[in-house]
Amino acid sequence: MKIGVAGSVGLDHLMNFSGKFTDSFVAGSLEKISLSFLVDSLDVRRGGCAANIAFGMGVLGLNPVLIAAVGKDWPDYEAWLSRHGVDTSHALVSQTLFTAHFMVTTDDDLNQIASFFPGAMSEARNIELGPIMEKAGRFDMLVISPDDPEAMLRHSETCRELGIAFAADPSQQMARMSGEDIKLLIEGASYLFMNEYELALAMQKTGWSDAEILERVKVRVITLGSKGAKVETANGEFVQIHCPKENSKTDPTGVGDSFRSGFIAGLAWGLSHERCAQLGALIATYVIETMGTQEYRFTSEEFVARFEEAYGQAAAAEISAHIR
Ligand SMILES: Nc1ncnc2c1ncn2[C@@H]1O[C@H](COP(=O)(O)OP(=O)(O)OP(=O)(O)O)[C@@H](O)[C@H]1O
Ligand SMILES: [Mg+2]
Repeated sequence: MKIGVAGSVGLDHLMNFSGKFTDSFVAGSLEKISLSFLVDSLDVRRGGCAANIAFGMGVLGLNPVLIAAVGKDWPDYEAWLSRHGVDTSHALVSQTLFTAHFMVTTDDDLNQIASFFPGAMSEARNIELGPIMEKAGRFDMLVISPDDPEAMLRHSETCRELGIAFAADPSQQMARMSGEDIKLLIEGASYLFMNEYELALAMQKTGWSDAEILERVKVRVITLGSKGAKVETANGEFVQIHCPKENSKTDPTGVGDSFRSGFIAGLAWGLSHERCAQLGALIATYVIETMGTQEYRFTSEEFVARFEEAYGQAAAAEISAHIR
């Protein structure tokens, strides 16, 4: 199964400030501020939704095609992703801009001051799927993850026109999208991924009811945080899965993306929706246990043993042949 993963690629710069930001704000003189915080740690991590999803699929032995606009600083990140099984040869490399950057400083009270620079991501709207598929082959499925909103809408439109199955994953970009945009993005999707909050937001913004949203897609996958995930269809299929027990809660960043990578890998292997969701939940558990979104590692034996512990022997037997 040939799978394209469209969406953001970015670098996160995470800093910690020992102290409280609020001690530096002087009431009454906030019209002109010039603040500099001396931070005592800097962590640079690879991220971006499409990169996280494609990375997880690559680690599971698939070879997804990354569809993203990246910056002139791309070579390092590209080498990393291609080493982990991602086909990076179709990325659009900006001549002028840097890859998207997220900079956040956190203080001792967990207050944060952050900036997001979309950078090259804004050029994603210039990406044409047609010429990419002429070279890479026709996609059996395109995952549309958070990206430049215009690019997301364009990809879903192209998929509908060409009859290509797509998975709509608006995630954090939903906050920026209008109800009309959300409708256009999800209409006709084979899979729709959301968490519970995003589903409520989608209902509010589109004016569609829960059932109306369900009717517009083939399969809807709702992640429920520590309660797992549920998969449902308008004609009555319903499965809910629980999460494997995690060994630590180290850093939850990227759980949503990694869940999608496991789920879609399961689809590529022709497994049931229940197994797909369980695969997603196990990868998400690995992500929770490690700092960063692309730092987890496992051997196939470990992965299958953990899957068996969480979901039983018969379930593990179904996935074991696929895990490399
Ligand atoms: N506390 C937890 N313990 C174990 N697994 C978890 C926990 N939180 C999330 N997960 C796993 O990750 C999946 C996705 O989590 P969640 O519903 O929080 O997504 P999200 O809100 O989109 O996350 P993100 O912050 O990455 O966008 C869940 O279905 C579950 O498998
Ligand atoms: Mg999410």
